[in-house]
Amino acid sequence: MSKYSRAQMILHWAIFVLILVQFAFHEAIVDAFETMLKGSPASTNPMVSAHLGVGGVIGILTALRLWIRMETGTPKKSGNHPQIFDHLANAVHYSFYAILLLLPITGGFAWYQGSEVAANAHTILRAALLILVLLHIGAALLHLLVWRHNVLAHMWPSRN
Ligand code: HEM
Ligand code: HEM
Repeated sequence: MSKYSRAQMILHWAIFVLILVQFAFHEAIVDAFETMLKGSPASTNPMVSAHLGVGGVIGILTALRLWIRMETGTPKKSGNHPQIFDHLANAVHYSFYAILLLLPITGGFAWYQGSEVAANAHTILRAALLILVLLHIGAALLHLLVWRHNVLAHMWPSRN
C-alpha cells in the first residue's frame, strides 16, 4: 500500500487535535492537582474532568490505532533518503505509541492515587512528546524540501 488506511488517517489527525486540546488547556488540572495535594476538597472545574476524559480517550484511540497498525501494516517506505532515517522514523513512531499509552496511565495514578512520582513521570512524558512532535514535523519538512518527497500524502486522503 502507498498510503495509510482511512481509519489510520482519521485516528492520526483526531489524536493530534486532542493532544493540542490537552496542551492548550492544562492550567486547570495543574491547579487542581496542587490543591488536592494540599488536602483541599477536589476541584469541580469542568476543565479538570475534560482533561481526565480527553486523556482517557487519547489512550483508547491510541490502543485502537496500534491494533489497526498490527493488522494492516504501514505504507512502503519511499524516497531516496538514507536507510538510517527509516529506522529513526520507526523509533519515533513506536515511542509515540508508548508515550500516548503511558500518559493516561501516569495521569491516572497521579490523580486517583495522589502520586507525585506519577505526576513527575507525566510531566517528563509530555516534555518527551513535545520533543518527538518537533522531530516528526522536522522529518516531514526534510522529506519535502531535501529529498523532494511529499510524505504528507501518506497521511492525507486523496483520490490517487
Ligand atoms: C495523552 C493524554 C494526556 C496528555 C497529552 C496530558 C497532558 C498533560 C499536560 C500538558 C499537563 C501539564 C503538565 C505540566 O505543566 O507540568 C498535564 C497535567 C496533569 N495531567 Fe495530564 N495528560 C493526559 C492524560 C491524563 C489523564 C488520563 C489523567 C488522569 C486520569 C491526567 C492527569 C493529569 C494530572 C493529575 C496533571 C497534573 C500533574 C502536575 O501538576 O504535576 N492526564 N497533563
Ligand atoms: C501530536 C502530534 C502527532 C503525533 C503523536 C503523531 C504520530 C504519528 C505516528 C505514531 C505515526 C506513524 C503511524 C504508524 O506507522 O502507525 C505518524 C505518521 C505520520 N505523521 Fe504524525 N503525528 C503527529 C503530528 C503530525 C503532524 C503535525 C504532521 C504534519 C507534518 C504529521 C505527519 C505525519 C505523516 C506524513 C506520517 C506518515 C509518515 C510515513 O509515511 O512515514 N504528524 N504520526
